[in-house]
Amino acid sequence: MLGAERTQVVIVGAGPAGLLLGHLLHLEGIDTIIVERRSQEYVEERVRAGVIEWGIANFLESSGVGTRMRAEGLVHHGIELRFEGVSHRIALSELYEGRAITVYGQQEVVKDLIALRQGYGAPLHFDAEVTSIEGHTTDHPTVRLTSDDGETSITADYVVGCDGSHGAAVGSVPPGYLRRYERVYPFSWLGILAEAPPTTEELIYCRHARGFALYSMRSPTRSRLYLGVRPDETLDAWPDDRIWEELVTRLATDHTADIGQGPIIERGITPMRSVVIAPMRYGRLLLAGDAAHIVPPTGAKGMNLAVADVRLLAPALAAALGDHDERLLKEYSDQSLRRVWRAEEFSTYMTQMLHPHPSDDFENGVQMARLRQVIESESTARSLARNYVNLSSV
Ligand code: FAD
Ligand code: DHB
Repeated sequence: MLGAERTQVVIVGAGPAGLLLGHLLHLEGIDTIIVERRSQEYVEERVRAGVIEWGIANFLESSGVGTRMRAEGLVHHGIELRFEGVSHRIALSELYEGRAITVYGQQEVVKDLIALRQGYGAPLHFDAEVTSIEGHTTDHPTVRLTSDDGETSITADYVVGCDGSHGAAVGSVPPGYLRRYERVYPFSWLGILAEAPPTTEELIYCRHARGFALYSMRSPTRSRLYLGVRPDETLDAWPDDRIWEELVTRLATDHTADIGQGPIIERGITPMRSVVIAPMRYGRLLLAGDAAHIVPPTGAKGMNLAVADVRLLAPALAAALGDHDERLLKEYSDQSLRRVWRAEEFSTYMTQMLHPHPSDDFENGVQMARLRQVIESESTARSLARNYVNLSSV
């Protein structure tokens, strides 16, 4: 039941950023209310990211969120880069001090965080949408929301917008205070989740003349695959047969077994873009995760960046609320943005190397040169491995 309330921190959005921030602040003894516009079931079933960096997995574990991730997550020591019908293994762990990635679905992280929070009884309201935020530059910002209980409000010491790329937080800031940097790519990703045992042990990033393809997985019985498609594509044009045919064509080599096929249980098309909002703060409103930055998915960085943001933000809020010391909070935006721009650079590099351009053959020539450099130059492969495995924790 939602009535007019007061708390120390209101968190808008129950994605990985909002839920983890709520948990970290709970560990610091700070009261929070999380407000999420979707239902619990929707949030828990929303299929998205899958790759967790080495340092981010360690951080989740040390925060008490890693038990199931460690038991069920798949540890990968390499990835394949496939182009011109030939696969090349990038030995991530050999190239980077034995470190590896963990493949574990974002919705599983979200389920684990929701179970934790509901276990200790901290407020988490689903089906409650934030419609406006007021008083950012006062010491008692207020969030207005609408739910089955009607219109209500929560007043807090701080509000954190963890409400993703279509949220309300950024829009609540008066014009002129936040700058938006944006780049749109001429591709979307069509992603599927299939009841099909993966026929590869490691992820395959594939550049084919017809377009990009990615072979990933979620468990020994579920595969997750993506196709690069035109930005105006719709799912109606992609019946199951066409999706599998295109995946088989793009992923084909002379030497490997066919990809495993099975019933498609989830599908979606996601446009690719880069967005950075700066600064990640306006008065007592802070931004974290996709609310402040979007990366194209080719670098697998979005969820990792969301975790990295709140890892920095939680102790900063704790110092501000506990000791009235705002120093860390003042540094939060600049520190996060340095990492965010590095992730934008890496994700752009991966995107532009692996998605053939439909009409620009000069660009295509440069892409092939970049791919060859990764497999011919150990220092280039090492740099890719470091960025892929651990960019968000350094
Ligand atoms: P979100 O997960 O978007 O959560 C925001 C929440 O806020 C949502 O639940 C939303 O319903 C809620 N909300 C929005 N507006 C309001 C409102 N007004 N009131 C209340 N609640 C609101 N990242 C990786 O690291 N690795 C990958 O491999 C990867 N692959 C991806 C593949 C795909 C197809 C996609 C789409 C994304 C991928 N990402 C990946 C990106 C990753 O999923 C996001 O970066 C991540 O979800 C960001 O988490 P977040 O908590 O900031 O935002
Ligand atoms: C997955 C998603 C990505 O964006 C990526 O780069 C690698 C894997 C996945 O969903 O498994």
